[in-house]
Amino acid sequence: MADGGRLVVITDSTVHLAWPSLLPGITRLVFPAGEASKTRDTWASLTDQLLDLGVDRHAVIIALGGGVTGDLAGFVAATTLRGLRWLAVPTSTLAMLDASVGGKTGIDTPHGKNLIGAFHPPVAVVSDPELLATLAATPYRDGLAEAIKHAVIDDAEHWGWLEEHAVAILERDVDVVAELVRRSVAIKARVVEADEHEQGERVSLNAGHTVAHAIEQVTDFTVPHGHAVAIGLTTETRLAERLGLAAGGTTARLAALLERFGLPTTAPAGLDHRRLVSAMAHDKKNREGAVRVALLARIGAVARGAQGEWTHQIDPAELATLLTT
Ligand SMILES: NC(=O)c1ccc[n+]([C@@H]2O[C@H](COP(=O)([O-])OP(=O)(O)OC[C@H]3O[C@@H](n4cnc5c(N)ncnc54)[C@H](O)[C@@H]3O)[C@@H](O)[C@H]2O)c1
Ligand SMILES: [Zn+2]
Repeated sequence: MADGGRLVVITDSTVHLAWPSLLPGITRLVFPAGEASKTRDTWASLTDQLLDLGVDRHAVIIALGGGVTGDLAGFVAATTLRGLRWLAVPTSTLAMLDASVGGKTGIDTPHGKNLIGAFHPPVAVVSDPELLATLAATPYRDGLAEAIKHAVIDDAEHWGWLEEHAVAILERDVDVVAELVRRSVAIKARVVEADEHEQGERVSLNAGHTVAHAIEQVTDFTVPHGHAVAIGLTTETRLAERLGLAAGGTTARLAALLERFGLPTTAPAGLDHRRLVSAMAHDKKNREGAVRVALLARIGAVARGAQGEWTHQIDPAELATLLTT
């Protein structure tokens, strides 16, 4: 950039074909689209290709793609020559309004998702909602689950805005989507900055995710992440209402908006209760074996414990029962 470092685009095969002439004249390294590429093998191949190009430590990586590309290319940047700068150009709703904030990069392993990685924020994020024009309907809606999560954990005003603009959001109105991205990014950035070391408030961003990760695991990741989050938010809020933590009617309001965005609010039939419990008990954010989750108090706020804690201990079997009945 300013000091004349070489630019290299890393993108996936689908985005490469959808946007062949974006960022012309810059070398592109292309990997096969999909979560299955977020591996050490792809990381090894990309880092080798960068070294073959003879990059030095002034090089700047441009990650052009969805959340998979951001996580993978960001991790390539974090590790090549002990850390290259990178620029995020997210092309999916999930990447624009969630994954591009917070500086987490990484890859999956057979032991689980995102288990190898680094905190290595991009120097800048350039989000252009016009890029969403070529994104398929399912991944487009998938990312909206995280926008709803941002609203329910932190911002009742944003919730109202989402309800008001649901049609324009689904029609991909460029100005409305730009505003949606600004609002979500502002909420996530505020929460992340308030708690850079993940000791407290940042766990509220995991709302819905204890159940979501369990669903993803027991269905072998055939349920897309945002869809799993939608089911997770609804189910965890049902539990919060039962425990007297969430105001009555919170789950119904949440489910109604998720459904307007075409997202599911109940788990697919036939999930195995025991496997769900075991997946939740082994979630990496648990402390000392206890399952603790951030639960809603109402739309726009999470329930705080007596000592101000951001999470509550719950029984995974009770959550699994809510999911399977
Ligand atoms: N780092 C973080 O903080 C963070 C947060 C949330 C999620 N994530 C990660 O993000 C990943 C999921 O992100 P995702 O849903 O964007 O997945 P993705 O990157 O696989 O994109 C989904 C699909 O859409 C395609 N695509 C993306 N943009 C497109 C466009 N403009 N036109 C046409 N096709 C396009 C991709 O090729 C892919 O097939 C997961 O790996 C998850 O772990 C990371
Ligand atoms: Zn998520």
